[in-house]
Amino acid sequence: MADGTHVAQGWDSASLKALFNPDTGWLDRRVLSDQGIYQLELERIFARGWNFMCHESQLKEPGEYLVSYIGEDQIIVVRDEDGQVNAMLNTCRHRGNALCRAEQGRAKSFVCSYHGWNYALDGRLIGVPGQSTFYHGDLDRSGLGLRRVRLESYLGFYFATLAEDAPSLHDYLGETGRAGVGMMCAHGEVEVVEGVQKNVIDCNWKIAVDNLFDWYHVPYSHASANSAGFFEIAKIQFPKNQMVMLGEYGHAIGGPGIPKETQDRIDLLSDEEREAMTRAGSPEAPRIRPRKATELMGEAGVRSQGHPNIFPNLWVTISGTQMCLRLPRGPSQTELWWFTLVPKGAQPEAKRQIVRRLNHVFGPAGLLEQDDGENWSQSTRAARGVASRQLGLNMQMGIGHDEVLTNDGGEHYIEGLIGEHGQRWLYRAWTEWMAARDWAELKANHSLPPTGAI
Ligand code: FES
Ligand SMILES: [Fe+2]
Repeated sequence: MADGTHVAQGWDSASLKALFNPDTGWLDRRVLSDQGIYQLELERIFARGWNFMCHESQLKEPGEYLVSYIGEDQIIVVRDEDGQVNAMLNTCRHRGNALCRAEQGRAKSFVCSYHGWNYALDGRLIGVPGQSTFYHGDLDRSGLGLRRVRLESYLGFYFATLAEDAPSLHDYLGETGRAGVGMMCAHGEVEVVEGVQKNVIDCNWKIAVDNLFDWYHVPYSHASANSAGFFEIAKIQFPKNQMVMLGEYGHAIGGPGIPKETQDRIDLLSDEEREAMTRAGSPEAPRIRPRKATELMGEAGVRSQGHPNIFPNLWVTISGTQMCLRLPRGPSQTELWWFTLVPKGAQPEAKRQIVRRLNHVFGPAGLLEQDDGENWSQSTRAARGVASRQLGLNMQMGIGHDEVLTNDGGEHYIEGLIGEHGQRWLYRAWTEWMAARDWAELKANHSLPPTGAI
């Protein structure tokens, strides 16, 4: 599994690396359709990386659980009686039945629906029907607990990995990943509203990820939302004030950025004045962040008004109000899970209004996602044809026209026009993850955030 011992289905390191050329921006379309590549992604990217599971507010009481995924492996994340949060594979140790069938709920223990084996909230096997009769007392329960999975949290956001040799979550996220998660807490503590909205789109998961860095498509794909008066693209896109941050292991943030001179003026304002400034702006523009947000996001990060992606597949939407997991379901299907964030302790009416507004933007009922989903599925379909798949995908925008700046805090960032730096960084990291057979190889061979001309 995560150690990469599985046969690479005809793909060796050199052929995997050749799938994307970061110097020209050409990507081989087979990355969107090849079954062998997909299987390898499950092993070398999903099983090996830190995957977002849930937020602590979703597991308030002992017994509260949620079932999430690492690739196609189901993971139960549950708070036990001692208050500890555990992650375990959702598969019975007897005949492998899926143990927990509900997506979310509260349990005292988990009883398998096949033969009735019973597991405690920490995964111990605590009950076996017929243990003294049919098993003659021979069954050693101690070695038959649920398979535990590594789980760590940052700012209350839980992530899990199947790789014992993965770096800590903190190190994995690095500066850019931590800025991305920090964006969700920049205005204070948050909680996830009840329920995760789920829908399936017939697209490869990477198309949905690449799109979140894509501010080029906004005025064209979403023209109808603009002309219907749903939002004013001119007030959110800022094509000449873009900011991209490229982080270790493939994390990145891309989209509009607040110019340094503007941020210098904001820095002189009190939090109250910032709130007033936000209220005076357009309703769809992101809120100006309070002073303490700089601690969470860094001096450059706090100027970002774009979209972070926590590699591989957690999208944090602009201004950190929603999160979306792009869960792989084969090369041609992706399950999208939408989490909506509200200020911790928000009043029911305020919550309702936030949820109602955000539901119209992203998620299955979101105006923007309907435009996007259509393009993602048609792009995936067109990558499968015998002739079509031989053509590359072009990501050359901006190559050689920008510079990565580094500030005193060591943050790296690019400022300039709309470009495709985020997409190229995603696929560069993807090839490195895919070509590395284990974490040791990935640590040794991955690209560090670039500096200088790019
Ligand atoms: S498969 Fe779970 S008890 Fe038999
Ligand atoms: Fe879009």
